[in-house]
Amino acid sequence: MQAEPYKFEARNVSRVFRQGKKQVVAVNDVSFTIKDREIVSLVGQSGCGKTVLAKMLLRLETPTSGELLFNGRPIDAERDPREHWRQVQAVFQDPFSAFNQFFTIRSQLKSAFHLFKQKPSPREIEERVDQALLAVNIQPKDIEGKYPFELSGGQMQRMLLARIFILRPQVLIADEPTSMVDACSRANILDYLMKLKEELKMTIVFVTHDIGLAYYVSDKIFIMHQGKIVEQGPPDQVTQTPQSEHTRQLLDDIPDIHRDWIQRGPPKSAIETSGTIAETA
Ligand SMILES: Nc1ncnc2c1ncn2[C@@H]1O[C@H](COP(=O)(O)OP(=O)(O)OP(=O)(O)O)[C@@H](O)[C@H]1O
Ligand SMILES: [Mg+2]
Repeated sequence: MQAEPYKFEARNVSRVFRQGKKQVVAVNDVSFTIKDREIVSLVGQSGCGKTVLAKMLLRLETPTSGELLFNGRPIDAERDPREHWRQVQAVFQDPFSAFNQFFTIRSQLKSAFHLFKQKPSPREIEERVDQALLAVNIQPKDIEGKYPFELSGGQMQRMLLARIFILRPQVLIADEPTSMVDACSRANILDYLMKLKEELKMTIVFVTHDIGLAYYVSDKIFIMHQGKIVEQGPPDQVTQTPQSEHTRQLLDDIPDIHRDWIQRGPPKSAIETSGTIAETA
């Protein structure tokens, strides 16, 4: 029997940026595999190449060398990148940057259907938008006619997730911004990710500075340093018996609350997964 192909497979992938005479090796000869429905965290300090790697998985950046496969085929096998974006979607923790401030929320959720090959009927689109809103605990009437700036950050985060519920991608890439996110919204993100994994059976690539958070959400952790993956493995192995000094450094840097999680597990509220996504904003 033919084994199922990896969701992603990278063979000696690099991404070099040239700026005049200078060159920046943002991602340096990385090789890895990501299985279907696996949750993988990319962890490393600022500037180590996490976002560039994530963008290559999204087909927003192209490797300058090496091979990157998606479902066993070269990631650029399809000429039209939209084919890829139907299957691989991103969420960012700053939800406002993902929405246009000048259009209503509802019209933007509806526009997610532009990515579909076969657009459902207008009536079905309305219905599916309502379903997606209810899935993230928003009453459709509460956002009727509203613009992004009229919603709270937490509500906007849930709008991003509603969009994911509409698109139902195979892969979700969640990139944390560099700015500090407070502990409360971190716990929300965690809830969301667990929920999405359970309900949509997705593969998730989670980008973070915080190895404590990665420990809790992941099946596998990749530690990055200066463009290289310096260590990879299951969370227990990477956190209990780190092989790389860079991993030890990241372990020293984690916030105390997440250090506790590694020892005792996360607080119960963070793993509550019954019903739909909890009201957390
Ligand atoms: N378009 C670009 N042109 C030139 N250099 C770039 C470009 N994009 C990224 N870089 C460089 O590549 C390196 C890796 O950047 P990247 O954004 O992947 O870091 P990161 O790990 O995501 O950092 P952070 O945690 O701060 O988000 C950095 O040195 C960055 O300056
Ligand atoms: Mg980044």
